[in-house]
Amino acid sequence: SRQWRGVLREYAHRLDVTDATPIITLGEGGTPLIPAAALSHRTGADVWVKFEGMNPTGSFKDRGMTMAISKAVEHGAKAVICASTGNTSASAAAYATHAGITAAVLVPEGKIAMGKLSQAIAHKGELIQVQGTFDDCLDIARDLAANYPVHLVNSVNPDRIEGQKTAAFEIVEVLQDAPDFHFVPVGNAGNYTAHHRGYREELERGATTRLPRMFGFQAAGSAPLVLGHPVKAPDTIASAIRIGNPASWELALTARDDSDGYFGAIEDSAILEAHRILSSEVGIFVEPASAISVAGLLERADAGVIPAGSRVVLTVTGHGLKDPQWALRTADGSDVEPTIVPVDTAAVASVLGLSA
Ligand code: F0G
Repeated sequence: SRQWRGVLREYAHRLDVTDATPIITLGEGGTPLIPAAALSHRTGADVWVKFEGMNPTGSFKDRGMTMAISKAVEHGAKAVICASTGNTSASAAAYATHAGITAAVLVPEGKIAMGKLSQAIAHKGELIQVQGTFDDCLDIARDLAANYPVHLVNSVNPDRIEGQKTAAFEIVEVLQDAPDFHFVPVGNAGNYTAHHRGYREELERGATTRLPRMFGFQAAGSAPLVLGHPVKAPDTIASAIRIGNPASWELALTARDDSDGYFGAIEDSAILEAHRILSSEVGIFVEPASAISVAGLLERADAGVIPAGSRVVLTVTGHGLKDPQWALRTADGSDVEPTIVPVDTAAVASVLGLSA
């Protein structure tokens, strides 16, 4: 057996990678596609979960970042910059430091999960908290990249989308065809766009018989693609997708139309309910933004849009350990109370309802 070599080496022939490209990799990609019997049972569909939290920095961003940083280094960049709700900053900092270059990361002040903040700092990212939204951060990052010698690695950089399309390749390899539906969380809509592109390429080279319907979900308080206009003060507990003006707006609409797709909005309460279902019935721990794929499926299945037996893939984008606090709340919003016992086997047996 051999070690997975990261997406640039595994898919070199399907990406813009040449002998001149330095391969900056932490072994990203090759993530598990997990059959989710509990979700199949709930919906009547054949449901699989692509667990992108299993990437090196704990999110799908690593697929795009290996490509973006490798190309940046190929072109001589010494510094990269990004705006981020947390995961991009963690990934950019890790890949940049691996390459021996600097990453500056702009995040909305006080609005990113602790695990992601810790990652960016641990990997020597030049972290700057901006007193504004993610959208403000992205405006500044674009300004800087246009006027100063820094290389932008947000998903407006086409290399990011190219790297991220490899998730669709992996899914097709496992299922031996494309699914009928693909569900994905949406912030900037870069990943939605990337999956559509990957599936389209698979169809065109004859590896699949269909294009999946691309179903993307935004939080209700942060749903510009559903509303049809930008949201000035986006609000949701799903901090990763608290984005009011998606960078890949036009590309995403094209992908939706090409795939007979859909954009939906989900309330925070339904996101947290889906988070509980995925953790407690399937055994997969994700951050809240990722659970919106599950919430979206449950909502669309209830609406009668998912025919029985349909093959469905849900992308869950980030690991639960990045933002673990949500597991410690019950459905009614109260804190989970740990059970405390004295040092006594009988007391533990009694709590567990065991009798000798
Ligand atoms: N899920 C997670 C966990 C994310 O971190 C993001 C985006 C998305 C979904 C949405 O992906 O933007 O391609 O539609 N996070 C970015 C960041 C914005 O800065 O980490 P998208």
